[in-house]
Parts: sequence; structure tokens; C-alpha cells
Amino acid sequence: MPVPHLPPPLPVSTEVDETLAFLGMYHRETGLPGFAARRQEIEQCEHLSLTTPELTHGARMAWRNSTRCVGRLPWATLEVHDLRHLPQAPQVFEALCDHLRGALNGGRIRPLMSVFGPGIRIYNDQLIRYAGYRQPDGQVIGDPQNIALTEYVQQLGWAGGPGSAFDVLPLAIEAEGNVTLFELPSDAIHEVPITHPSCAALAGLGLRWHALPVISNMTLEIGGQRFEGAPFNGWYLQTEIAARNLADEARYNLLPAIAQALGLDTSRRRTLWLDRALVELNVAVLHSFDEAGIRLADHHSVTRQFRHFEEREARAGRAVKGNWSWLVPPLSPATTPVWHRRYDDTELKPKFTVQRPIWAAPPARCPFQTST
Ligand code: ARG
Repeated sequence: MPVPHLPPPLPVSTEVDETLAFLGMYHRETGLPGFAARRQEIEQCEHLSLTTPELTHGARMAWRNSTRCVGRLPWATLEVHDLRHLPQAPQVFEALCDHLRGALNGGRIRPLMSVFGPGIRIYNDQLIRYAGYRQPDGQVIGDPQNIALTEYVQQLGWAGGPGSAFDVLPLAIEAEGNVTLFELPSDAIHEVPITHPSCAALAGLGLRWHALPVISNMTLEIGGQRFEGAPFNGWYLQTEIAARNLADEARYNLLPAIAQALGLDTSRRRTLWLDRALVELNVAVLHSFDEAGIRLADHHSVTRQFRHFEEREARAGRAVKGNWSWLVPPLSPATTPVWHRRYDDTELKPKFTVQRPIWAAPPARCPFQTST
């Protein structure tokens, strides 16, 4: 017997309310007509899916609302590729390679987001991630932050890279209920070798970093709709690479090696060798990206741009929310204007939220929870 074609289940009213609230903002901000017709459509629940322009504006608003991001000034320039029609992992993977090449744009990096449909998820937290291999003696080769991801893809059958400190991990893509691994082609991975303008020994350390940060583990939420597969990129800020990724003790922990290359006196911390090595590593990363012709922000200009962003938002009648501890740079913070200000970290919608990694245990239920 043929199964009768049932209408889609009625969405819960909060979802309709959220969609309408978003569409109200969308029409107000863009000045586009058509809200009344759209509201009728939504209320009759014929069509809850967002149009491409709505999705695009919603994604831009989510960037504008990102309390942790100091680089929000160009939020309205975000390009959005609406790829909600791609159901299969190989097509998603091809689109991700196109994303990497298109966003790099020969070094003039452009902010880009690729939005996939329901059921698509990328388990890597960024499209380009370096493996972290735990050694029997407890040492780690590569990026210690990515040990769990490395072990996860190894369990799925990845044989591992050459075992260097900078092996790019394959992508683990979920589609149609299955997870598939894909090795990125070298033309989709652009990396910059790190050299220093005056200390040749620093180049001898063989450091590098990838040009493009494409965040792939955040859910984009617009008007009550959630997009789990929505990787997006801006361009790097040098402190992310030089003051955290390469410098943190729990990451590449390179300040002792940098200090040695610079010939600093490391006998006592009071010589400030850590600080001096840190500054020179930042100089090196800026120099290297500039030499390679890859767009890279610095903490002095980006924080000043953030102040422009605040002024522009104030003129548009919108409050800027921010998470101060994320906005201040990890290098010379008090030399930048954000240090001297306070921010309200309330999260507005549309927004991005970090997904729980697939390998992490679900949170334990609190037995004493009494209210919702
Ligand atoms: N902090 C992250 C990293 O070092 C990147 C986060 C996004 N950064 C950006 N500039 N859009 O890889």
C-alpha cells in the first residue's frame, strides 16, 4: 500500500518565533521589502527553509555577533556559498577543496563560508590541522592540541603521515550517516615557512604554518535553524600563530628553541628571554607572511579596527558584545585600545556555537538537577 504523503511536522512555535524574529531583523537591516508575505508563508508553515540571501545575511550577522572575534570590522564582506543541496561526502569534500583555494585567492584572502545541508558535519575543528603523535615516552611530535583528532582518524584507518611536526590531517566528513576520510590535495594546502628578517638561525628550525584558518566545528544558528556543516574563514592574526600555536607550552612550545637561535641568556627568567623570544617569533611570522604575500593581521591594527567597528555599530544603533579575554591580544595587550575597555559578553543571535567533538564523552547528567 502506498504510504500517504504526509505534510512535514509542524515546527515547535519557538522555532517559528525565532525565524520570524530573524526575518524581521533581516528586512529591517537590509531594507528589503517582503516581510509580510514571508511571515504569512512561515506561519502557514509551508516553507521554513531560508533563502540564499537570508542565509547570507544571517551568516554575516553571526560573525558580527561573535563575542570572541576581534576582526569583525569586515563582517558585511563575508561571502557565502549556499551548498545545502550537496548530499554526499565526496561532493562536500570537493567543495571544501574549492573553499580552501577560493578563500586563499592567491594570498589576498577573502572571508568565505560554505554552508551544507542537514546531516553534513566535519569532525576536524579546522580544515587544515597538523597531526599530534603521542610518543611512548610521553613526548608529542606535531601539535599536541590535535592528539585526539589524530587518534580518531587513525582509528578510522588513517595510516599516518610522514611523522613530521607539520603533517596535515585528513578530513573526517559525516554525510548520510557515515564518516569518510579524505586526504587534502597539496594544492589546497598553502603553508608559509617561517623566517626572521635578521636572525638566519630561526629559519633553521624548519617552522611553518598554514595560511588559512577555516573553522569547521561551529554550528551556525540563524532564526532557530542550525547548520552544523558551515566552515568559514577570515585571515590570521599573527599572535594566533606566533604567541599561541607555536609558543604555548601545551602547543609547539618553541620559545626555548627560539631563544637559543637568538642567542639569549636563558639562565634566569628575569632576563626576560621568554618575552624577547616571543616578540621575535611574532616579528618572524609577520615577516614570513608578508614575504609570501599572504594576508595577515597584526594586533595593533586589528584592535584599532575593532574600535572602528564599535563606532560603526554604535552609529547603526547596535550594541557590540565582546568577550574581553578573547579580544585582548596575548602580546603587549595594554598597548592596544581594547585592553582599556570593558565589554558585555552576552551572546546575540544569529550566532556560532562550538560543537562537542565526536570522540568526547557526552556530559554526565547531573542527578540533582531539579529544574530545567
Ligand atoms: N586561533 C585559531 C588558530 O590559531 C584560529 C581562529 C580563527 N582565527 C581567525 N583569524 N579567523 O588556528
